[in-house]
Amino acid sequence: MKRTVVIRTDSAIAEIQRELHGHFLEHLGTATYDGIWVGRNSPVPGIDGLRRDAVAALKELSVPVLRWPGGCFADNYHWRDGVGPAQHRPRTVNHTWGGMIEDNGFGTHEFIRLCSLIGAKPYLAGNVGSGSPAELRDWVEYCNYPLGSTLADERIANGAPIPFGVRYWGVGNESWACGGHQTAEEYAALYARFATFVPTCGDTQPYLIAVGPNSNDTDWTRRFFTTLGRGRAYAPPIHGFSMHFYSWGKKRATAYTPDAVREQLASFDDFEHAVKEQRAYLDALTPPLNRGHIDLLVDEWGTWDVSDPAEEREHGRFWQQNTIKDAVAAALGLNLFHRQADKLSMCNLAQVANVLQAPLLTSGDRCVRTPTFHTFVLMRDHRNTTAVAVDSPYSPAQDLSVSASRRERTLVVTLANPDPAESKEVTLVLAGSALAGAAPAYAMSTEPAGNAGPASELAASAARAGNAGPASALVASTAPAGARGWLIAHDDLNACNTFDHPDTITPRAVDVEVAHGTATVRMPPMSVAHMRLQL
Ligand code: AHR
Repeated sequence: MKRTVVIRTDSAIAEIQRELHGHFLEHLGTATYDGIWVGRNSPVPGIDGLRRDAVAALKELSVPVLRWPGGCFADNYHWRDGVGPAQHRPRTVNHTWGGMIEDNGFGTHEFIRLCSLIGAKPYLAGNVGSGSPAELRDWVEYCNYPLGSTLADERIANGAPIPFGVRYWGVGNESWACGGHQTAEEYAALYARFATFVPTCGDTQPYLIAVGPNSNDTDWTRRFFTTLGRGRAYAPPIHGFSMHFYSWGKKRATAYTPDAVREQLASFDDFEHAVKEQRAYLDALTPPLNRGHIDLLVDEWGTWDVSDPAEEREHGRFWQQNTIKDAVAAALGLNLFHRQADKLSMCNLAQVANVLQAPLLTSGDRCVRTPTFHTFVLMRDHRNTTAVAVDSPYSPAQDLSVSASRRERTLVVTLANPDPAESKEVTLVLAGSALAGAAPAYAMSTEPAGNAGPASELAASAARAGNAGPASALVASTAPAGARGWLIAHDDLNACNTFDHPDTITPRAVDVEVAHGTATVRMPPMSVAHMRLQL
């Protein structure tokens, strides 16, 4: 099937914030323990207890922001349990997720160490459900107060003389469910109390994130803000409002049928609608709540398939394989965020290892980069560029998904074909600028100085797959008349990267025909294509 879309290169939407490509880590299943943390005495090679292979992979991913410790777990977590000498930390029970013993080996210092190793901004989710405003205030002081208070000095004694400077603070999680089964009115009252006592310490001004709706529950949003705004002489501080949006599936991850794929991926159209509607609600807020702009975040999103009990026994709660469908789902999500870059400030995929739509799967000393990982690495190219408008008559989630962004004379385009049966020949027509050809392929990094661009990771990943040719050629090549981009595809819609075959799905080179000012690429069913073009 032929598809034609128009990219309006001079019609800017907004800068694509790096935080739209964020991630999430919870004490759930084997996400934290095994997925990230193996402890200092593990045979798995580590850096101070953090698994070395996961740290390396997350550096490739260039995780911009990482949310922790939950999720539902956040409302059961008491930060003091996780600081101080490991041998003195209490053994608690993870009552949220299965009653496992939690030795608190991975606490605040270990999380901050992970963030600094991988270059991510930390985002801590505070305990509202079973905690207190004083507990949250003390956690902020412990992390951020420079020195001289008992809590700051305790942090220093625990090995961190420089304050952590944590800016992002979540005030609870899913307070409408596992965070306390609160009504929007009850949560608004609690939010006001908790937020009031979060201090500014040193140079770090906290950025406070309130619990937003489940999917597009506008009733929650309306009632929360109505209560927060009503009858108060002064509005409490609020900087972000975070919705959660999961794409539920009806099959086990590797047992999808074409119809089940279509049904799950179609939810990304609902997701985009929800973002627009929630943003419109925030924009319509009246004083005193609209004294400052309130950002919209999605701090949990991703595919949620039916769990396989045997796999969960082996790999932990909510473990699911990650297939070519998830590579496409990742592109549908990131493309959506780019198109709505003027409405969103942060989005965190659930979760970073071994739980739900994970970029990494670990087992013993093995760590697999999933198809989702590869989509995220390709799409790093868009970060800190300007999203531009795309005129497309097609349903993004059911037919053709596109996002385009521009930095000076380089145009970055990602396409996703979500159809499990239909190939697409996609022609990009440019309005606003002429197409000169292919950009010097993958030679330029869109990341801030110090971060390599996707080229080296892709070359490494292709080399691991025994596919050094195209990747290294692309890294080295300069603009040919016909361009080449990257393609993630597989004939089998349940194909995945396993511990025994970790590189079944990796990006490979694809031809992009550049002629008469247009660019055309052929996409198999269920595929992601990514390219740079020179204007
Ligand atoms: O990501 C798994 C769980 O999903 C989180 O703990 C919770 O916030 C959501 O319901």
